[in-house]
Amino acid sequence: MIPGDSLDAAWWKRTTTYQIYPRSFADANRDGIGDLPGILEKLDYLQSLGVETLWLSPFFESPQADFGYDVSDYYAIAPEYGTMDDCRALIRQVHARGMKIVFDMVLNHTSERHPWFVASRSSRESPKRDFYIWRNGRRPSGKSPPNNWRSMLGGSGWHYDVRTEQWYWASFLGFQPDLNYRNPEVKAAMLGTVRHWLAEGVDGLRLDIFNAIFKDESFADNPFSWRAVPSETNPHGFFQRHVHTIDHPDTIAFARELRAVVDEFGDPPRFLVGEVFGDPATLQRYCGEAADGLHLVFLFATMRARFSGRAVRALVEEIERSFPEPFSPTYVFGSHDRPRFMHRVGGDRDKAKLVATLQLTVRGVPFIYYGEEIGMFNHDIPLHEGLDPVAARYRFVPQWLVRVLRKRGILLNRDECRTPMQWDAGRYAGFSHVEPWLPVHPESRSVNVAAQEGDPESLLCCYRSLLALRRESTALQAGTLEWIDAPRLPGDVVAYRRMHGEGASCDRADIFLNFSSHTIPLALDERAGRTLFSNRRGDRVPAPRSYALAPHEGVIVLEGRGSKPA
Ligand code: NOJ
Ligand code: CA
Repeated sequence: MIPGDSLDAAWWKRTTTYQIYPRSFADANRDGIGDLPGILEKLDYLQSLGVETLWLSPFFESPQADFGYDVSDYYAIAPEYGTMDDCRALIRQVHARGMKIVFDMVLNHTSERHPWFVASRSSRESPKRDFYIWRNGRRPSGKSPPNNWRSMLGGSGWHYDVRTEQWYWASFLGFQPDLNYRNPEVKAAMLGTVRHWLAEGVDGLRLDIFNAIFKDESFADNPFSWRAVPSETNPHGFFQRHVHTIDHPDTIAFARELRAVVDEFGDPPRFLVGEVFGDPATLQRYCGEAADGLHLVFLFATMRARFSGRAVRALVEEIERSFPEPFSPTYVFGSHDRPRFMHRVGGDRDKAKLVATLQLTVRGVPFIYYGEEIGMFNHDIPLHEGLDPVAARYRFVPQWLVRVLRKRGILLNRDECRTPMQWDAGRYAGFSHVEPWLPVHPESRSVNVAAQEGDPESLLCCYRSLLALRRESTALQAGTLEWIDAPRLPGDVVAYRRMHGEGASCDRADIFLNFSSHTIPLALDERAGRTLFSNRRGDRVPAPRSYALAPHEGVIVLEGRGSKPA
């Protein structure tokens, strides 16, 4: 499915990625929990949608206290998700379709039930003691934490262990103790798991909270800051700058070490995408000065971008500045941790189509979160009903504040964006035959795959035709990006040109995205062989001399290879 290697850009730079939260995608064995055989059954759908790379959230052995982000065995599959045979079949089947598969590696921490931690906490003399970060408490009694470091969720990240009378460090929740990467045995063991899954044929790894891997050896207090609430673009907060716990220089150096391991697995190359937080310029450092670090990092600034032409252009400009060739940015509008994107555009389908058009035509790797392609909504589930451990932690927060934070892109109950995939209008949305682990969204009766399949104006068909267009166009996959600053184009229209190749083999796509609620006339230069695609209808017509761009409409004018309909 991924076009041949005649292009100069590596496959992972040209690909389109789809995130599956396995627990919520499809339940094959009717226990209400999504599983690997369920994903296998839906590969036809994913292939017909046109996504090229699948990223699966973790499905390894785990007590599921954070639904898989607390691994107790990196070499085993949690039985509720399937077997090792299912896992291998999935890798095989994905490859048989010309697609790629990415697993989620939680390198930073394990579950507290991982045998390493069980041994580590059993005694100060355990050979595994130093696999985790243990410190004495502050004197005189040792009953207060070793320093002021706060976890990523606020509050001290230190946890007291009564038996051995020391504190262990956890960047996220207490049941997810951080591994000690300053211990060479730990590093070697975790690199072993990375090698293991790459040897099994996995094409890439998504790295969970990669920005937290190394903590400063000084264990000095983090400096005070007035900043209360961290964000995607600035992870400092809870009244401190997390200089000793986040983005440590040793973590950035480790990115290069990890890259070298991944590069051992040559042809085709594998890739790493890091979960890190900060402004694009800071995050770029993880990719290495010589592009020898992580291949990609998530850029979450898009999650918060205002729906306005000027804001979007400013953001893309900033991203382009920070990730020039040979670097490649990512475009992410939703995940299993954030409010669903449809929620942020107020359920407006045209706006959703416009953002999808941006995401799939701008220079970079798009990450589509499952259900985004049909416009799935957040499900308003009160904190006290949340199964999410983060919801439990913030149970005291009043619901009005939950709503305010959600508007700012912060989700305290992540169940809201993890509800079952909506396949059809059935009782359980075609996800399962029994009651699912999380409630199905009430809108599933009208918002579902089956209802949108045959509707050419649906969001699903818009994604499908955009993805098809991208596969045909080398300009959209690997072209340069230049702004089109036509004199009469208002600031609400974001316009850019993607271009690949030269002379007769030049492939070109001009993109015009109308973020305003007005119709805007476009003067197009009329050349033979150009075709125009509108995200409204999904079809392609010979490009006219002038075009009236409807409110929130996006069009792509193609010339060269990509202009010929398949
Ligand atoms: C980030 C993951 O995306 C999130 O879901 C998880 O809870 C934390 N890391 C801890 O692993
Ligand atoms: Ca199941």
